Amino acid sequence: MRKGEKVIIGILVALGLILMTQRAWQIATETEEDPGIPFYTTASTEVSNNAAALMRQLKCRECHTIWAVRDLTQKVPAPALDGIGSLRGEAWFYDYFSASDPQTILPSRLKAQYQMPSYAHLPEDDRKTLAAYMASLKVEDWYLEETRKAEFEKLTGKPYKPEEKAGEL
Ligand code: HEC
Repeated sequence: MRKGEKVIIGILVALGLILMTQRAWQIATETEEDPGIPFYTTASTEVSNNAAALMRQLKCRECHTIWAVRDLTQKVPAPALDGIGSLRGEAWFYDYFSASDPQTILPSRLKAQYQMPSYAHLPEDDRKTLAAYMASLKVEDWYLEETRKAEFEKLTGKPYKPEEKAGEL
């Protein structure tokens, strides 16, 4: 091999190495962009604070997950409340909390002690605050179907079929 050939081969090998390294770097750094947390609330600070106080006092988290947090002792397969306001409206929540037997509105598959309790005894303002807060718990469109699926499966214990809906919506 002549000197000139060696130089050319050397250059080609170096170029190849550079391209390979570049591609490896691309693959290593090519992660899907994190779309973030899909849940948010549209409630005012006042409604949020009042609802949070009520929910603490009434121990909703013993059965429900909200803001992805739940009591460690929670054993009840109740639907998560994150994004629930994208599935139902404020009037529905108000009627549900005001019903003396919530299971006539939303049938339960659980034993009586795990079912959604009636909050009909609460002052009207408290039921309104809870309903307003529930209605404010929204989910981004890209996670709506996932939220609906999770709710359906918790309520019915059956696999989700998009054409079926849990309860009246
Ligand atoms: C003893 C457990 C328990 C407690 C405490 C409880 N829930 Fe529930 N909740 C349930 C269950 C279980 C369901 C699903 C329906 C059923 O099985 O009765 C439900 C349903 C709901 C729904 C309707 C969800 C849907 O899929 O549409 C809302 C909203 C709700 N609860 C809000 C609350 C709020 C707010 C509190 C506190 C004030 C609360 N729950 C306290 C068990 C509970």
